[in-house]
Amino acid sequence: MLKNRINTVIAGATGFVGLDLVKLLSKHPYVKIRHLCAQKNIGKNINYFDKTLSKKLPKIERLEKVNWNKIDILFLSLPNGQAQKLINKLYFKYVHLKFIDLSADFRLKDHTLYKKHYKIVHSAKKLINKSIYSISEFTKKEINKFRIISNPGCYPTSIQIPLVPLFKNKLIDFNNIIIDSKSGYSGAGKNYKKKFKFNNFYSSTYAYSVNFHRHIAEIDQEFGKVSKKISFTFNPHLIPTFRGILSSIYLKSKKNISIKKIESFLRNYYKKNHFIKINKINTPLGTGDVLNTNKCEISICQTRISNRIVIFSAIDNLIKGAAGQAIQNMNLLFKIKENAGLK
Ligand SMILES: NC(=O)c1ccc[n+]([C@@H]2O[C@H](COP(=O)([O-])OP(=O)(O)OC[C@H]3O[C@@H](n4cnc5c(N)ncnc54)[C@H](OP(=O)(O)O)[C@@H]3O)[C@@H](O)[C@H]2O)c1
Repeated sequence: MLKNRINTVIAGATGFVGLDLVKLLSKHPYVKIRHLCAQKNIGKNINYFDKTLSKKLPKIERLEKVNWNKIDILFLSLPNGQAQKLINKLYFKYVHLKFIDLSADFRLKDHTLYKKHYKIVHSAKKLINKSIYSISEFTKKEINKFRIISNPGCYPTSIQIPLVPLFKNKLIDFNNIIIDSKSGYSGAGKNYKKKFKFNNFYSSTYAYSVNFHRHIAEIDQEFGKVSKKISFTFNPHLIPTFRGILSSIYLKSKKNISIKKIESFLRNYYKKNHFIKINKINTPLGTGDVLNTNKCEISICQTRISNRIVIFSAIDNLIKGAAGQAIQNMNLLFKIKENAGLK
């Protein structure tokens, strides 16, 4: 049990992810929100952006106003390229301070890949190896050794949670995996209309970043820790809904490995985890089953082709794919209940 509350700053509090961080952290039993920061709208109340936020919270401020000596943790929910600059300024000066970065700045260990995919030269290369890429379910034993936590991307979270344990235990074929993911448009942030210029935004399903989505590098890196031989295709789609991701993953089980074995293995693997739900075989699944929760729900389904199975994995991109997982990571970092503030 913590003696004092965790003093927290949220940078990017007025964005889609930032607002979910504010909502969840304002109800977290061990957290005190000290500052809410953004670039614009300085001095405004946070409930200007979300009327459901009724609790008295700090007004929007600039980051320069923060006295970092009094802060325990900084959540960075900023566009790519910003967190690395800020953490570079603060990391060595305030050695008590911890960081959870929700952008891609510390996800890729190879800075040349970061430059290739994000078109930004990394300005804090020496800090990359001081950070941990953390899907909370996989890093519980080691997360406390780090002060910079790199929160994974939303699509990669939905994909790795079902697949990584199956790869590690050699239950599925490493080749020709097809990952077809669908996301609500909040995945692109509050300026989504500027990012996607296609017709009928709210009544169209749209395949984008065909064969070159940035998250491919992150998935490659993490799958590569298990085997360099894993091959997959990944295509994301935008669907006309605000939030939620459903990844449909087509793969082959290894010879003589039944679908029942795969289901019972995953159920057993995640049995002590609060947020992972393995459904009965062939259970239909939708993003509606996980909205506004930190859950990842998984259904393993048969197909007409022998050994070919489909795994459906659903998360809320803004919660398990961003703000919720960031808080789960914070809970692990501070050794408090993993589901504190996330029930
Ligand atoms: N959306 C998702 O589903 C999702 C999932 C996982 C990870 N992420 C990542 O999380 C981060 C935030 O995503 P988002 O969707 O919330 O983006 P967003 O809606 O565009 O919000 C960005 C936030 O950053 C603030 N900001 C921008 N530049 C700033 C600066 N120089 N100093 C201080 N504040 C600044 C913005 O405030 P102003 O309006 O005042 O500029 C806004 O509050 C991104 O890196 C994104 O890739 C997003």
